[in-house]
Amino acid sequence: MNIALVYYSFSGNTHSAVIFFRQALEEKTHQIQTVRLKLSREESSFFKQCRDAFLKKEAELSGCEYSLKQYDFIIFATPVWAFTITPALRSYLSKADGLKNKKVGFILTFGSGAGANKTKKELERILKDKGATVEFSLGLKGNKIKDKEYLRNEFSSLTKSYGL
Ligand SMILES: Cc1cc2nc3c(=O)[nH]c(=O)nc-3n(C[C@H](O)[C@H](O)[C@H](O)COP(=O)(O)O)c2cc1C
Repeated sequence: MNIALVYYSFSGNTHSAVIFFRQALEEKTHQIQTVRLKLSREESSFFKQCRDAFLKKEAELSGCEYSLKQYDFIIFATPVWAFTITPALRSYLSKADGLKNKKVGFILTFGSGAGANKTKKELERILKDKGATVEFSLGLKGNKIKDKEYLRNEFSSLTKSYGL
């Protein structure tokens, strides 16, 4: 399968999880394209990050390819910010093209887990509104992402269940 991994990561947890997942998928001979979303101007104030996420603001992305037509399966990944998805992923999804009838999955990373379930439901709805079929979602605890055994267990159940 030709798989895209589209993600945003501020402090590196989501990035580490995506890199782990990419390697696991490549071992299964899938062709993987990773797209790390970058903001034109990265906001580093925790308060402003929370405010912008909470208000469901979009952020300006730099050098981004919005067409997902060529992929068989697309996996999105983002941290939970202020009980919702990040402005970077929200912005990307509002412009993304080629999601209709496409199989997708997503990975959320979080701290305490506050708002993770709400975020899951919201992202499911956004993806369904774009016409995508949500095959899976996976929540990962940010403070456990350095633990390779934790990631292996989380990902192996996914790869088995969804034939990835
Ligand atoms: C601005 C901001 C808001 C956050 N809000 C939440 C939250 O509402 N719930 C939660 O469980 N974790 C929250 N976190 C923790 C992150 O989701 C968690 O640390 C995540 O793994 C960070 O991913 P990253 O390292 O890829 O940026 C927040 C972190 C930041 C920076």
